[in-house]
Amino acid sequence: MTTMSKKGKGTATGKIILMGEHAVVHGEPSIAIPFPEAAVEAVVCPLDGPAELDCYYHQGAMSDAPITVANLITTIETTLKRLDQPLKNFKLTIQSTVPPERGMGSSAAVAVAIVRALHDYFDRALTTEDLLELVGVSEKIAHGNPSGLDAIMTSSRTPIYYIKGQPFIPFPLKIRAYLIVADTGVMGETKEAVGDVMQLLKQEPEKTQDALHRLGNLAKQAKTAIEADQPENLGQQMNEAQQLLKELTVSSERLDTFVAAALASGALGAKLTGGGRGGCMIALATEKETAEQIEQALIEAGAANTWIYKMGDEEIG
Ligand code: MEV
Repeated sequence: MTTMSKKGKGTATGKIILMGEHAVVHGEPSIAIPFPEAAVEAVVCPLDGPAELDCYYHQGAMSDAPITVANLITTIETTLKRLDQPLKNFKLTIQSTVPPERGMGSSAAVAVAIVRALHDYFDRALTTEDLLELVGVSEKIAHGNPSGLDAIMTSSRTPIYYIKGQPFIPFPLKIRAYLIVADTGVMGETKEAVGDVMQLLKQEPEKTQDALHRLGNLAKQAKTAIEADQPENLGQQMNEAQQLLKELTVSSERLDTFVAAALASGALGAKLTGGGRGGCMIALATEKETAEQIEQALIEAGAANTWIYKMGDEEIG
């Protein structure tokens, strides 16, 4: 008989990479934002017998995202090992509104929520370092060679400026602008895209290194544009980043169509976000009305889901 009666709870948010995806894997800077409009909640309840797992995804069944399933199991097993607890006598329920494999950090967000919920259930303290280490194990399965950005971002409430291997820097967004986020509805296969960029580095080292470095420089310039509240500059930098991401082969026809539709509807800039090859696109606008026009154009272009995100309202701390 189990003696525990309390529940354990853990949450995490989705994330948006504003600048520096892929380049961040290779040591270049990046900027990312928590995206609470899409979130995960994991709840652990006592149960006699073998552990049970229930998952509810807002879009797409679990079987649509096999990588995520592997992640779940790895995260649960690794965390229980750390906590010195057996795989029994609890039920774990996961509810997620972060669409899987869309560059919004679904795999990391699910792992963060699980690690937090299990620690809460077993009344164990969890440091940020331990959390990132535990999530890192399953992120290796999801991304092959993760930069660590998704794990940090889905567990944080603060936008960050991040270079792999360095402490992340909380980065208040002092810009008056809206991001229009559109889901292509296509699975992104981040692991494959990250692996293909690695191949390109081997096949065309100079050209690829140059593109990655320019993406990193754009992230630095975007930091300056955000600090100076210069949305036009940020939009231009997003457009340049999209061209470089295309060169790296991580865009797709559908993403390009979405980018074109957003720009034609008044966006200051538009680019893919996350791993690419599908997943999501972000566009920038300063006026709410323009943001709504862009959103409408993206719906007409076939977006599976859209969001309008107001920058600058994030919690800092
Ligand atoms: C995926 O959300 C972002 C990538 O840069 C991979 C990573 O940072 O691990 C493509």
